[in-house]
Amino acid sequence: MIYADYNGSAPICGEVKDYLIKRLEDGPFSNPNAIHRMGTKVMMGMQNARAVCAKVLGAKPSQLIFNSGSTESIATVFYSVLCGGPECKQKSGRDIIITACMEHSAVLNTATYYRDNHDFTLKIVPALENGVIDMNVLNDWLNDYGDRVALVSIMAANNETGVVQPFREMAEACNKKGVTFFSDTTQIIGKAPFNFEESGADFACMSGHKLGALTGTGILIAKDPTQLKPLIIGGGQEKGLRGGTQNYIGNETLAVALTAFENKLDKMVALEKARDKFEAKLREKFPEVVILGKEAPRLASTTYVAYPGIHGQAVQIELESQNIFVTTSSACSDNSPVTSKVLRCIGVDDSVGRGVVRISLGLCSPLEWYEEIFEALSKAYEKLAKVKSF
Ligand SMILES: Cc1ncc(COP(=O)(O)O)c(C=O)c1O
Repeated sequence: MIYADYNGSAPICGEVKDYLIKRLEDGPFSNPNAIHRMGTKVMMGMQNARAVCAKVLGAKPSQLIFNSGSTESIATVFYSVLCGGPECKQKSGRDIIITACMEHSAVLNTATYYRDNHDFTLKIVPALENGVIDMNVLNDWLNDYGDRVALVSIMAANNETGVVQPFREMAEACNKKGVTFFSDTTQIIGKAPFNFEESGADFACMSGHKLGALTGTGILIAKDPTQLKPLIIGGGQEKGLRGGTQNYIGNETLAVALTAFENKLDKMVALEKARDKFEAKLREKFPEVVILGKEAPRLASTTYVAYPGIHGQAVQIELESQNIFVTTSSACSDNSPVTSKVLRCIGVDDSVGRGVVRISLGLCSPLEWYEEIFEALSKAYEKLAKVKSF
């Protein structure tokens, strides 16, 4: 079986599995906020995990808020920056800048909510054909009316194409104008080196399940946590920024997965080489094949490929019959057999857009998998090209 949907969700990584088995066997279990010895021990374990995560992420432990994942982080940042408490009304009427078509729906729908319910104007930075945002437009807007902008929220790496955005440049441009910059770093953390301090962003986020930790865990990283307002008030946990008893074992798995990622960074170079070889072989055998995002900086582990005229879902089914699991776009839009918004936004037409499959591996995947995927994909294309569906 080949699991090639890491961008959707990574399998629990080996290190986390080993850790969990021992952890569940040995304990301790307690409410981390309890003042007795067991609680203190659990809290110490969680604070140790926080310190480990902070080190890998290039942040201070005090800048990390444990939560349930990126959707919650995104909601918290938007709420805090745009509407956190009494100042909401004063901020309404200002601009939110996003990339619309490229943002994950967790950002797009949240931004749209604030546009529709709180009188913000949503401004959409266009993307170039290679999938990278048009920095000239962002710079012009920031120069022309930066003082009107309440928040710039632009992702670091795209979940479909794997294209990496110039997030450091964006942060610098926003910092110069005193504009708050949030980068949705869900896809880059665990797939490429990321250092929060060096990024210059005001906020970033991660989801544990994208890198082999437990699902339902995540971290919001804040340059200045005092700028945050809790979405969940509760009992004051996480310094009052996220109520609810912490998922301490889940949070510990974040530290284990991030450490495993850091220890395997050199594997990424090998993975990128194997991915590039796979793509080159595919293009040699099927010159009509299109690799989306190829002209831009990309995550080492993502291939977004289409054979014009062959339906992506048909390819997915063929691959699944050979026990290879890929998706046709992101998990959230996978049921829709139309060109995704990400691809439409970079000018991809339906003949390519309806044909895409996303192959996303991770640092734990054997490199030989690319050989097996190549063989299976070749077979699928040869079979389906005889009966092109559109
Ligand atoms: C870029 C990006 N942002 C945000 C999310 C939301 O993450 P979660 O569903 O873990 O909250 C995802 C998940 O696919 C994503 O890929």
